Amino acid sequence: MASQDHHGKEQWASRIGVILAVAGSAVGLGNFLRFPGQAAQNGGGAFMLPYFISLLVLGIPLCWAEWTMGRYGGTRGFNSAPGVFQILWRNPISKYLAAVALLIPLVIYMYYVVIEAWCLGYAFNYLTGKLMLGEDSAAYGAFFDKFVGIEKDGALFATGGSQLLLLLLVTFALNFVLIYRGVTKGIESFCKVAMPLMVVCALCVLARVLTLGTDKVVEGLGAMWNPDPEYLWRWETWLAASGQIFFSLSVGFGIVINYASYLRKSDDVALSGLTSSSMNEFFEVCLGGLITLPAAFIFLGASAKSQGTFGLGFNALPNVFAVMPGGQFFGFLWFFMLFIAAITSSLSMLQPVIAFFEEGLGLKRHASATLLGLISALGCGFVVYFSQGMLALDTFDFWIGTMLIFILAMIQAVIYGWMFGIERGHQELHLGAHIRVPWFVQLMLKYVTPVYLLAVFIGFCFTKGPDYVRVISGGGVPLYSVLFIGTILVFLLLLIRIAGQRWQAEGRFDNID
Ligand code: PFF
Repeated sequence: MASQDHHGKEQWASRIGVILAVAGSAVGLGNFLRFPGQAAQNGGGAFMLPYFISLLVLGIPLCWAEWTMGRYGGTRGFNSAPGVFQILWRNPISKYLAAVALLIPLVIYMYYVVIEAWCLGYAFNYLTGKLMLGEDSAAYGAFFDKFVGIEKDGALFATGGSQLLLLLLVTFALNFVLIYRGVTKGIESFCKVAMPLMVVCALCVLARVLTLGTDKVVEGLGAMWNPDPEYLWRWETWLAASGQIFFSLSVGFGIVINYASYLRKSDDVALSGLTSSSMNEFFEVCLGGLITLPAAFIFLGASAKSQGTFGLGFNALPNVFAVMPGGQFFGFLWFFMLFIAAITSSLSMLQPVIAFFEEGLGLKRHASATLLGLISALGCGFVVYFSQGMLALDTFDFWIGTMLIFILAMIQAVIYGWMFGIERGHQELHLGAHIRVPWFVQLMLKYVTPVYLLAVFIGFCFTKGPDYVRVISGGGVPLYSVLFIGTILVFLLLLIRIAGQRWQAEGRFDNID
């Protein structure tokens, strides 16, 4: 198959390749760490009801909308959100709204890659036996705190080059080598190997956990799955469930738009979108939901439920590996799998921005990779330096990974439903489609999804907003973090302006159907 179209743009080499790449973006730390943590803290089985409703009302419809918009923009010569938005809605403002679709993946990359390096570090330390610390639970906490430099800002630099910094460099370089190789030779080829490898590793760890032969496994499964109906009446449960759906499916990040833009006009998007979402749910519910919490429960009992995302993965689970036969091997396998899961996701965060630098500024691959490398290294350095209490990481995650994704999802739903139009959307979605999507999905996208999103967002602002505003007004690292994000946003807006002028001068929007 040719891997360039008549605009000279790259294209996916195979259908399974693009499905695995989108699924690779979706399956990540969110599936194995964030999901069990959220479910446990929000009523176990009761979390699953709002979770599945959000999947049906928000996740899958928006996923189809993103696939459709991406392919539509791609076949008209654009791969990045500013160009695609401008094609979908001919108002000059649309390209500026797309700044959010570049900012989100770029800033998430800045901290996600750090956590990715933690996973690589843990895998390495299992291999060398340094993480076999016996049944001393405090030792695992102490290891983690030191490893990530939680006690003091700059702690990781103080010792003159800690192990984590080296691993971060390796992780960073690996991401950029793959991105530099391009969509087909880099992302697609890597995901084709990484996804099956991840399934095998996860199934091995799952089989080990479920056959530990203790009653606590059953109790752990109960903690994860037994519904506590009281939670259904809490606003927070609904917020957490819809946030998890977004984070997990990589919907609302501008990523699917970018990936789908490398499709051909008659490539299916309806079944492919559904397949990649289903794959993500398999990893999340069947693997993440059955491994992490049940395993933590074995060691910690009921208190496992109160562990946060990192507590479960980096503290509770090493305690479990310490007592299980073959624990060193399974510890390595677990963290290695997390590393692979994270890397297929972080690649997808870089691609939308690199695509924009290339098509918006006319940069060649090495120049755009260098520019992106510099910006992301700056942000990553910021997160690694301000490591005390993980304040910078948490602030980035809250404002970008939690708040802003609702805004982008709203923008996308409105552009699709109201500017592009659901009649055109429905028609476009079915070009080359292998399944028929019922019409009511379009109605949902136009009316229900934006309202649902708005309600959740307002709820978010009221419940969590004031606390975070208070945190920022206290100054220090949270304030610097928000200022840092603001600076990047202004920079991106400037670049979009330059790109817009170039595209206009080249007549890129003339004669487009
Ligand atoms: N979906 C990924 C996960 O579940 O870990 C996270 C993610 C991927 C977030 C891509 C943002 C992104 F742009």
